[in-house]
Amino acid sequence: MRPKNPFNPTAPIDPEYFAGRHHEIEIILRALNQTRHGSQQNVLVTGERGIGKSSLALLARYIAQEPRGDWQTDCKFATGYYTLDDKDTVGDCCQGAIEQLNRTIRPSLTDRFFEKIRQLDCSIKLNFWFGSTEIEPRGKVRSDTDAAKIRKDFVKILEALWDELKGSGYNGILIVLDELNKIKTKENLGAFFKKVSESLVSDGYRKTMILAVGLPWLEQKIAEDDLSAVRVFEHVALDPMRPSESQEVVDKALAGTGVSISDDARARLVDWAGGYPYFLQQMCFDSFEADTDQLIDVADVNSGVSRSLTQFDRMFFGRVLREVEGKNYQKIIEALAPEDSGMPVGVLQRESGVKGVGQYLPKLLKDGVITSPKKVSTNWHPRRLLYTSSWSSAWASSAKKRAWTPTLAPRRLGRPYFPPNAFNGASHPTGPG
Ligand SMILES: Nc1ncnc2c1ncn2[C@@H]1O[C@H](COP(=O)(O)OP(=O)(O)OP(=O)(O)O)[C@@H](O)[C@H]1O
Ligand SMILES: [Mg+2]
Repeated sequence: MRPKNPFNPTAPIDPEYFAGRHHEIEIILRALNQTRHGSQQNVLVTGERGIGKSSLALLARYIAQEPRGDWQTDCKFATGYYTLDDKDTVGDCCQGAIEQLNRTIRPSLTDRFFEKIRQLDCSIKLNFWFGSTEIEPRGKVRSDTDAAKIRKDFVKILEALWDELKGSGYNGILIVLDELNKIKTKENLGAFFKKVSESLVSDGYRKTMILAVGLPWLEQKIAEDDLSAVRVFEHVALDPMRPSESQEVVDKALAGTGVSISDDARARLVDWAGGYPYFLQQMCFDSFEADTDQLIDVADVNSGVSRSLTQFDRMFFGRVLREVEGKNYQKIIEALAPEDSGMPVGVLQRESGVKGVGQYLPKLLKDGVITSPKKVSTNWHPRRLLYTSSWSSAWASSAKKRAWTPTLAPRRLGRPYFPPNAFNGASHPTGPG
């Protein structure tokens, strides 16, 4: 029978297959443990698209949910994992987080709790089931309520929940807010996090941890919103994986499948993925499919990866152009695409022929289509994905000097670039020259 393909490029990784990221996991374990012992610690996870943020957040939730021998933890947290919708407000986040939390703890809640919630008269509406009656219908979070009230109500509900949960064997609450980069423009995230975190602590509710997740520019946004809000979080910036971590991804997935991989095939996959787990998963998935004799060798990889290329085309280069509506956005991406090291704004304006190019950059940046890096990797990677390792210092440097770089920079649009010898003469695109 055909074994199940253990690779999954289309979704965050299941905690069972999670590999690498040992340093980052350490930080999360410490934060969970501190919170569990009554010393609240929040974490902000940032990184480029597909770098593994949600996978790490899901692992954090998994560890938080129950004592895990592998990790030597004894957490039993009530968890709520809310993924933002486009243009969510802070109020929507509060509502979403509470609803998700509610899903996991509903059986632990008593009549007394519901009565208390009824009396609180909150702007955040609860969708709890009480007997057979829903207390409040799910409604759009009030755009008419002010942010200060929503924050206050969010804290009130969290506190009421904790009063209820602490007697039922729980030892903490974890709230994950994923894709926080989708927050509506002008919402003050910094003030929100600072206020929520400080209110909980000052009220003596120190066992609630927030794990905020999003694209690299979030850190700067939070800092710009409220300078001291950065201190609310321990920051985990996800970089590309080291080769040993990528190897671990491959080995962990294959373990127990009855399928093995030759050393040179694995080295090739690891090298081509350049530390980006999404690319690794896609190429491994296709190589696994190409294999017919339970040993993935170089020929399987070459044949599999040719399918991956089509997928990369579709996923990224096609999407990037489709998504950035309007000719000017397209011209900007096209001007940036052949550049290794990005361009200062002035050059970009000349090359793209787009007047007032600066006005288009924030949206491209927000969508994760371009980066504004200080340091640009010049290594050749399959799709030559350029990564900024220190976004905040790049931002801090003079705006004039900023080099805007496409997050995904194919040498020719529509074709990822592979080094000339990548396929040993196989009929695949081989990049320029
Ligand atoms: N530690 C890991 N071990 C194995 N695979 C991983 C790991 N981290 C990420 N992946 C894989 O990489 C891909 C992208 O992961 P994930 O969705 O977590 O990234 P992301 O940063 O949240 O992306 P996005 O910005 O699009 O939300 C997925 O296919 C996932 O399976
Ligand atoms: Mg994600």
